Amino acid sequence: MNSENNFLTEQEVYHHLTLSQIVTKDHRAAGVFEKYNLDFCCKGNKSLGEACKEKGLNAEEILSELQSVNIVPNENNLRFNDWELDFLVDYIINNHHQYVKDSIPVVSAHANKVASVHGKNHPETIELNKIFTVVYKDLKQHLMKEEEILFPYIKYLVKVKNNNSNPERPYFGTIANPIKLMESEHTSAGDNLFSIRKLTDNYTLPADACTTYTTYYKELKEFEEDLHKHVYLENSILFPKAIMLEEKIFNS
Ligand SMILES: [Fe+2]
Repeated sequence: MNSENNFLTEQEVYHHLTLSQIVTKDHRAAGVFEKYNLDFCCKGNKSLGEACKEKGLNAEEILSELQSVNIVPNENNLRFNDWELDFLVDYIINNHHQYVKDSIPVVSAHANKVASVHGKNHPETIELNKIFTVVYKDLKQHLMKEEEILFPYIKYLVKVKNNNSNPERPYFGTIANPIKLMESEHTSAGDNLFSIRKLTDNYTLPADACTTYTTYYKELKEFEEDLHKHVYLENSILFPKAIMLEEKIFNS
């Protein structure tokens, strides 16, 4: 899908590839899946056909949207799958981790304000505030673990590969251990954000929503979309490739 000689066939898109694999082939598919609430990261191991059947969606319609994305030239189509892992790590930190760090104080201030002003008429805003507090506390810890433990080790593996030097085993034994933990933390963040989406009825504003309320829902939606892309880059590209790199280095 992302190169002239590498188009996906309809059969592949429908049945053979998972949603996560389709996004790996062409990141622009993420936007289409987001639009239909099709999860391509934590639960992205279903084919388009299966996922549409489950959600009662028209797969034909989504396929034609994927095709239209394909014919629109996109200069921002970043080839994450071709990048060196140390570069991908820096991209994730500078783009997605920074976004989460910058958003947390802003969104939680709005979550507090909306819950205290509108909680009486819209009790779900009180619950939303509680869930968002869990999300941001968990995510802060999660980003710290990645930035201080896992990502430096991935950069170390790249360095060992490039210098052809002798590798040393990390104190956590193998990279599969921290990755397993990071993946389960991604799943719980994704689940919490899904609860937020459900509670807000897909970010649908009530008739009496003020400007803060409106901004807050936009922020929550954007936060979820960014987290999906972020988790996708880690779960579907960075982590499997880092596991393979470690295996290669220690077995060569
Ligand atoms: Fe992560």
